[in-house]
Amino acid sequence: MSDVHPLALLSADEINDAVAILRADHRIAGAADTAETVRFPAVRVAEPTKAELAEMEAGTRPIDRRVRVMVVPGPGPGVVDAVVSLTTGQVVEWVETADAHPTLLFMEAMSAINATRAHPEWQAAIRLRGIEDFEQVQIDPWPPGRFGLAYESERRIVRCISFWRETGGANGYARPIEGLLTIVDAARGEVLEFIDTGIVPLAPELGSYFPADQPSLRSDLKPIEITQPEGPSFTVDGNLVGWQGWQLRIGWDPFEGLVLHQVGYRDRSGASAVDELRPILHRAAVSEMVVPYGDTDPMHFWKNAFDAGEWGLGRMTTSLKLGCDCVGHIHYFDVHNTLDRGEPYVVANAICMHEEDYGILWKHVDMHHGTSEVRRSRRLVVSFVATVGNYEYGFFWYFYLDGTIQLEVKLTGIMSTKAMAIDAPASAALPYTRQIAPGLAAPLHQHLFNVRLDVTVDGFDNTVEEVNVRPIPPGPDNPWANAFVAEATVLETELAAIRDIDPAKARAWRIVNPTKLNGLGEPVAYKLIPGSTPTLHADPSSNVGRRAGFARHNLWVTPWRADERRAAGEYPNQSVGGDGLPRWTAADRPIVDTDIVVWHTFGVTHVPRPEDWPVMPVEYAGFSLVPFGFFDRNPALDLPPAAADGEHCHAETAEPAETGTPSP
Ligand code: NI
Repeated sequence: MSDVHPLALLSADEINDAVAILRADHRIAGAADTAETVRFPAVRVAEPTKAELAEMEAGTRPIDRRVRVMVVPGPGPGVVDAVVSLTTGQVVEWVETADAHPTLLFMEAMSAINATRAHPEWQAAIRLRGIEDFEQVQIDPWPPGRFGLAYESERRIVRCISFWRETGGANGYARPIEGLLTIVDAARGEVLEFIDTGIVPLAPELGSYFPADQPSLRSDLKPIEITQPEGPSFTVDGNLVGWQGWQLRIGWDPFEGLVLHQVGYRDRSGASAVDELRPILHRAAVSEMVVPYGDTDPMHFWKNAFDAGEWGLGRMTTSLKLGCDCVGHIHYFDVHNTLDRGEPYVVANAICMHEEDYGILWKHVDMHHGTSEVRRSRRLVVSFVATVGNYEYGFFWYFYLDGTIQLEVKLTGIMSTKAMAIDAPASAALPYTRQIAPGLAAPLHQHLFNVRLDVTVDGFDNTVEEVNVRPIPPGPDNPWANAFVAEATVLETELAAIRDIDPAKARAWRIVNPTKLNGLGEPVAYKLIPGSTPTLHADPSSNVGRRAGFARHNLWVTPWRADERRAAGEYPNQSVGGDGLPRWTAADRPIVDTDIVVWHTFGVTHVPRPEDWPVMPVEYAGFSLVPFGFFDRNPALDLPPAAADGEHCHAETAEPAETGTPSP
């Protein structure tokens, strides 16, 4: 055990050991009911602190391999956050939260589906709609939210909606059975409430995206083949990855999915004064996300999916396939998730790592001298895909040759749909939905992600500055009325650091290490460049406004705390709200020159369009972290010219342009 790195991916044996230690604990084994009803839906590495980790890596502290387990004792509310030491065989933490609801459990979701399908009122309503074969009805369990229902604080519930699948492989989302909703005690398999708001005819089209159902397939698409005859440029040792100066560790979490640990860069170009591995991110992962729907319809108003906390991006991950999801020379990482009773299972090829050509990185043609230099950009891609019900989310981390880090989320899959009268005009769907196909509409909604960046730019203690570009008023300081300045403001406390994007001001946030100066005498920094992103449209007083407080603003900064891990708190499912970033930052703690965590909320507002149906072309969201004075010059000058058709992509002998040199 002692040779396992403290951040290594969990093995099946480790999960089994952790669950066995907990099962033997008197708090479970000693209670007859609990021993039978207890569930262990999430098992992950309990990470050491930065100081502990440094000592373990230096060999001055023995490695204590710890595992964090979500323990669900019974069928009601109440969750235990337990930490087990595999090294000592002890339960070292046991924190009960009596009114918390756990993540949705897989078996409970199945029991809710079965309870709905067996429910007499639901069956009668299905027959009323002309459907006799209940097995052909697809039933989707949804996290219920929290809307003041009598039983929702005492029970673990899901809301189930129904879709007609004419054949086994049909697209159920093409045929929502509008008007039917069951609310089910998932832990006990009891239907608590059945709602029928009235019949809307099934949409007429199958909405198939399978090749056999298309009128024809393109025949003029020629192959593109990616070949890497000498293999990849990356190295892998366990979960430790090296590539072009980058170094990082690959981690996994049932809720966050892919976790990046200890991301650093070793400059080999002489572009900075030091030749050592320089830390940038101690840890980075998507901590939470929310998909709020903007429809007032009784069938849809409650849809606010927290896909990290309620289902788990890691728990909903599927295996990737070579040549389809990723192309080129691929390295896959397998991961282990757990079933409800703590049984580990492997998700083969869960994380894909490969290199991509990314066009040009830099180029210049010297018209005076007749030289042309161009270097190609390449990126290391580390990705995984979560399928959460109808939607797919691909999370792609990119590392570039110039020190840039990027997270790109690829949104695809199938929209959540509703039936509308077939003969109604498209305008009938307005204002809260858009028609997407005959007799079919989709509500307006958002996808808002929160990434937690435990930053460590050249050291643990960092400061965040907001940079805004401001025009200078015409006058003595600006005689030609053309001047503008980039003004940096230190974000000194948590409340001051709750910020939104402002593209008109080229707003960005710099993560600075004030104690480390670059060769120009400026503090080294990385700059968080946001994309064009909305914040939560729902009112702060709404159910989702309270539960997804993190989504109301684009930037939050907190001092690092071990128990502040996910933006909406540990237990967003059925929560009353208020937890996570809004609660922590209310203390308005200082965040200057200390160990800080940067939280960035970004995403898209999805106004459905016909082209998103029946399966949605990828829509993108994300942000970049770019070095800003982290290096003293372009760190990619040491790239060799690429070979193209046997000639190098630089031309020292090119003729100067005959037409003269235009001014830049
Ligand atoms: Ni969408």
